[in-house]
Amino acid sequence: MMTKVKTTKEIAAMRKGGKILAHVLQLLASSVKPDMSTKELSDMAGKELARLGASSACLGYQGFPEEVCISLNDEVVHGIPRENRVIKDNDLISFDLGVIYEGMITDGAITVCINKNPSKNIQQLLSTTEASLLAGIEVIKDGVQVGTIANAVQSVLEEQHYGIVRDLVGHGVGHYFHEDPNIPNFGRANTGLRLQKGMTIAVEPMATLGTHRVYLADDGWTIKTWDGSLSAHFEHTILITESGCEILTQA
Ligand code: MF3
Ligand code: CO
Repeated sequence: MMTKVKTTKEIAAMRKGGKILAHVLQLLASSVKPDMSTKELSDMAGKELARLGASSACLGYQGFPEEVCISLNDEVVHGIPRENRVIKDNDLISFDLGVIYEGMITDGAITVCINKNPSKNIQQLLSTTEASLLAGIEVIKDGVQVGTIANAVQSVLEEQHYGIVRDLVGHGVGHYFHEDPNIPNFGRANTGLRLQKGMTIAVEPMATLGTHRVYLADDGWTIKTWDGSLSAHFEHTILITESGCEILTQA
């Protein structure tokens, strides 16, 4: 279903939900330590969401069994938290969370390195992937075409010759976790559907240090890089406005 122009009330709910989402992602990023399991982090997210009057949009989505997607290293997205998945000192960890608040959904993701002194390669992968998200956000305003956003993201990632994952894309969000249209991370400027003020979309670049090719692991959920290279994922939910946009998933 096509994403709708949201009402003032719906936007207020998404603004609050987005702040909760940003808070929970920060909580996870600051709590994660070597020897913790990904399941402990998922439980922590669930408790904090409940405490704040929100709930997870991931839990139960097409049967997804946990509160938040947690993906390590060559896992790009949709990793399932598990008791026996234990975090190690040099892991790259991505948290991807959907939040339901007052009936509205927001979606966001961050990637961090457990080691606070990561290699230059990893630092650059993280900072460039986040910069590509911000470059995409930068061009958003009433009437922007989907290809213009996609091209802004792509340009930043290609400068570093990163693999740009194509099989997964951003999307409309709000009444449902995934609404049309798709928001790809590569494309041609000034092409594609025009978006309107009042619509809400999730922009979510996924980049790798190797190939753009990915595959679905045996668990039926986890998406991994084809060549085992490391990957990063950053995502924000954005409200399109007359002259620009507002990032809903920040503190
Ligand atoms: N948050 C993901 C996205 O950005 C969707 C996760 S679906 C889940 O589109 F079921 F794995 F949670
Ligand atoms: Co998303």
